[in-house]
Amino acid sequence: MADPVRTLADMGLLQGSTVRKERVTAQYDTAQAAASYAEYTGRSASGRTVRSRHHLVQQILSQHSGGSLLDAGCGPGMMARLLLQSRPGEFSITVLDQSAAMIRYCTENVKDVGTVHATVGQLEALPFGGATFDIALVMGALEYTDIRSAIREIARITRPDGLVILTMLNPLSPYRLTEWMLYWPLVRLVGVFERLFGVPCGRRHVARLTGIRAVPASRLQQLMRHAGLIPVDVVHYDITPMVPPLDRLPAMVRRASRVPLDRTWQRSGWRRLLGTAYIVVARRS
Ligand SMILES: C[S@@+](CC[C@H](N)C(=O)[O-])C[C@H]1O[C@@H](n2cnc3c(N)ncnc32)[C@H](O)[C@@H]1O
Repeated sequence: MADPVRTLADMGLLQGSTVRKERVTAQYDTAQAAASYAEYTGRSASGRTVRSRHHLVQQILSQHSGGSLLDAGCGPGMMARLLLQSRPGEFSITVLDQSAAMIRYCTENVKDVGTVHATVGQLEALPFGGATFDIALVMGALEYTDIRSAIREIARITRPDGLVILTMLNPLSPYRLTEWMLYWPLVRLVGVFERLFGVPCGRRHVARLTGIRAVPASRLQQLMRHAGLIPVDVVHYDITPMVPPLDRLPAMVRRASRVPLDRTWQRSGWRRLLGTAYIVVARRS
């Protein structure tokens, strides 16, 4: 008999931590996933988000001196590379990712500009002692984790008064609401009809289930305070008036790539509500 838990999970109706982990592994733990993530910053709607995020984090870090820095959920190591290139010798960088493929790619990706300490591991159980790092970054990864445990771990490994920078998708933005409530469900529905009408597997529309679970900025700050982190700044980034699928049109992708990066983020004012993601900067108490 079919496992009812697995069946509900496959339908996207259940998202326990095991199911979420399997989805994240399936999405990120291949050499091809690492290479295409590293490449896509220039060419796609998701690339727009990543470019805006990396630029903003660099701006924030420019106000701080270097030190020991953990990039947890580092992916293919684009931020490590940017920091090693732009501020050589200032940071001692440790990268961690649950995907061995990402870690392999990351190590290769930076080796012409510097070195990183690389570890495969989980954000929810970081393999480092307490108060090890001056700076902890988690960019584009928290939404895939058990958020409460991951934040507790980040707080634990950051030294008192150390800097913590966390990013999170903005579940209240028009962009994410359209993407999650309309766009992906419609794509899946089209796929179901295509299957019924005998369209071959490789030509059907598919929308992978990602395991993402995002929280609004007020909730994230609350979780951070509980873990002993004091939020000092919140910035919304990847500000866009577009919603999917319009932003996936090639002309729109080209247009988005020409927007100056300083105009893709905002601290206050109504435009920040159009940010598809946000960042919280905090100090370890
Ligand atoms: C969207 S990518 C972000 C990559 C990079 N931080 C950036 O900003 O370009 C998310 C990364 O988080 C990693 N990740 C997801 N869940 C994780 C977990 N529980 N522990 C460690 N890494 C995780 C994935 O393997 C993936 O490489």
